[in-house]
Amino acid sequence: MINSKKPYLLVAITMFTFSSCTKIYKTPKADTTSLKNAFKKDFYIGTALNENQIEEKDPMVTAFISKEFNSISPENIMKSMFIHPEKDQFYYNMTDKYVAYGKKHNMFIHGHTLIWHSQLAPWMAEIKDSIAMADMMKNHISTIVGRYKGRIDSWDVVNEALNEDGTLRKSVFLDTYGKDYLINAFKLAAKADPKADLYYNDYNLCSPEKRKGVVNLVKNLQQNGAKIDGIGMQGHWQLTSPSIAEIEKSILDYSALGVKVAFTELDITVLPNPWDLQGADVNQNFEGSEKMNPYPNGLPENIQEQLAQRYEAIFKLFLKHQDKISRVTFWGANDSQSWLNDWPIKGRTNYPLLFDKSFKPKQAYYNVLNLKKQE
Ligand code: G3I
Repeated sequence: MINSKKPYLLVAITMFTFSSCTKIYKTPKADTTSLKNAFKKDFYIGTALNENQIEEKDPMVTAFISKEFNSISPENIMKSMFIHPEKDQFYYNMTDKYVAYGKKHNMFIHGHTLIWHSQLAPWMAEIKDSIAMADMMKNHISTIVGRYKGRIDSWDVVNEALNEDGTLRKSVFLDTYGKDYLINAFKLAAKADPKADLYYNDYNLCSPEKRKGVVNLVKNLQQNGAKIDGIGMQGHWQLTSPSIAEIEKSILDYSALGVKVAFTELDITVLPNPWDLQGADVNQNFEGSEKMNPYPNGLPENIQEQLAQRYEAIFKLFLKHQDKISRVTFWGANDSQSWLNDWPIKGRTNYPLLFDKSFKPKQAYYNVLNLKKQE
């Protein structure tokens, strides 16, 4: 009951009620003029950059990227074969430009990737024993992470260390150093830059068996005193798989470990997969096959719509779990730049991103932005 002897209390309550109401009715809508603005309060929106983009060869492309994205990943230039091609030689020309690009455009800067069996410097593949491997890891990780200390915000410390059944993949790292190479890598990275966020990054992380492998991997790092801040789910997905339920289960299981979840290489293929063809020999040469490259001159309207609905469903899920998700990065800025035009079959025309080959937003872009307009 309101005390009439205290009129100021009445005024205060009225003001409070009024201001609460105004808050409800005047909640500003998200600025949907770009992806980065629309999702500003939810997570970073990133893209992978190739060399031409890092060197700002085309001002139109630079303007486009800085309008839509607030986070960057290097598509290739930081992989060991490029940055550390010989034992005593590091090539920083492109990586320095990459970091300068991120700073200039005020972006979150991600490092990809320190320890990976692919695009591996040939000399690293020749390492034969644990001492030489320990030496290489220390030199490689401490030098690179140390150089960019305080400037690169997060790292994929280890990439794709797991088989599909969740066991550790056979690699030169496992063969020479043993299973603790992961602990070693994460400890070295944390020592070189204690403030950078450290991720384990991999594909097919929605499959139940691999998910178990990731959970074990994270627990093993944590139990051995290694800092891990997040799981990078690459997100190279299809129109119908993985299911939204499996993606959600992964977000929940990973964040239950106390780490962040990032979607680090998102794209959705719309093309037939040679592995889906019954009886197909995956090594068969499909190059030039019309059946495997059905949309060379443009995406039919119904598939465009399917892609838009798929992206909408995925982002709806991301928004539901925005408190657990740190970043959503697309693997490329537009369709013509995507690696999926050349994998698993060379020379196809794929449509996996939100922008077409002329950087025009596709229906999927508007569906994704509309989710924020509706909030
Ligand atoms: O460097 C050579 C160049 O000298 C040559 O002229 C040119 C001719 O094709 O090839 C260049 O190498 C290419 C390399 O990218 C660097 O541009 C390779 O052919 C090409 O196969 C390679 O593909 C990259 C792929 O990783 C290699 O595994 C893709 O661009 C890159 O998008 C892709 O990214 C990976 C992530 O790092 C990890 N997760 C999976 C993802 C997709 O495979």
